Amino acid sequence: MDMVLQTAGLTKQYGAQYAVHNVNMHIAPGEIYGLLGRNGAGKTTTIRMIMGLLQPTEGEIILFGERMKSPTKDIFGRIGALIESPSFYENLTAKENLKIISDLRGTQSKNSVEDALLLVNLENETKKKVRQFSLGMKQRLGIAMALMHKPEFIILDEPTNGLDPIGIQQIRLLIKRLSAENGVTVLISSHILSEIEQMADKVGFIDQGVLAEELSMDEIRHRNRHYVKMTVSQVSQAVPILEKELAISDFEIINDTEMKLYQLDVNLEKMNRVLVTNGVGVSEISVKKGNLEEYFLKRTGGVSIG
Ligand SMILES: Nc1ncnc2c1ncn2[C@@H]1O[C@H](COP(=O)(O)OP(=O)(O)O)[C@@H](O)[C@H]1O
Ligand SMILES: [Mg+2]
Repeated sequence: MDMVLQTAGLTKQYGAQYAVHNVNMHIAPGEIYGLLGRNGAGKTTTIRMIMGLLQPTEGEIILFGERMKSPTKDIFGRIGALIESPSFYENLTAKENLKIISDLRGTQSKNSVEDALLLVNLENETKKKVRQFSLGMKQRLGIAMALMHKPEFIILDEPTNGLDPIGIQQIRLLIKRLSAENGVTVLISSHILSEIEQMADKVGFIDQGVLAEELSMDEIRHRNRHYVKMTVSQVSQAVPILEKELAISDFEIINDTEMKLYQLDVNLEKMNRVLVTNGVGVSEISVKKGNLEEYFLKRTGGVSIG
């Protein structure tokens, strides 16, 4: 199956500085893809290039299997995007604002305004002018704008910036619902670890313009399981004993003397005894907690970013 979005060697250079450097992204149909990186990492620049708003210095963008050398108009008809805070007519209601956009675009179906308002739970705000809206309501109206033409792929650049926890949760639920019920593919950027963790199927870690890694959330959780840390005299000696005598198979070798066991149901006292009996020195056996936050921090440049 074609990827919804693929970039190959995507690069944007400003003078000697790379804002985005050799980025290879892969977003599969139906996926919620979280582009995670601290401020200045290159998220907006990447998204603006994908949307054809910024010319890449180098590299390729492939949307719905089509190369974007000279993007055709109907490709963007299949995409809805919210980049930066949208501007509205403050003296009009949500519905009136959407109606204007709908008329401008000209291709909307009869109920597109109502449907979009329903999706973002603004259907009951019939009297309120946008100027009386909270930031969260404005963001949801912005998302409604991006959704009105029922796109297959939505791109949201830090849609929860500046929102309070309830506003953030509403956006998160909305995105999950769009994905689950409508099968929409989502690219969402954020600098907030917890947000991406709670929403994304796949995470792309971007740091200083470089996409360090793309991993499924399942794989990230898998790598950050609790484990038993073991330090022994010789790992190569310990491994066959663990396998044969104790039927332990789920482990990872760190170096000559250190390893991690992911089976937490083993009897540690017995394991220690069996190893020592078989001539393997054991200097450490301890249970360690996996730390997803630490993992995220490392992948995004190492300092606290949210
Ligand atoms: N028009 C520009 N001219 C020069 N540098 C830019 C320009 N736009 C962005 N940058 C730089 O590119 C880097 C990435 O920026 P940006 O994509 O906005 O990051 P993010 O959205 O992840 O916060 C930053 O160092 C930023 O200063
Ligand atoms: Mg940005």
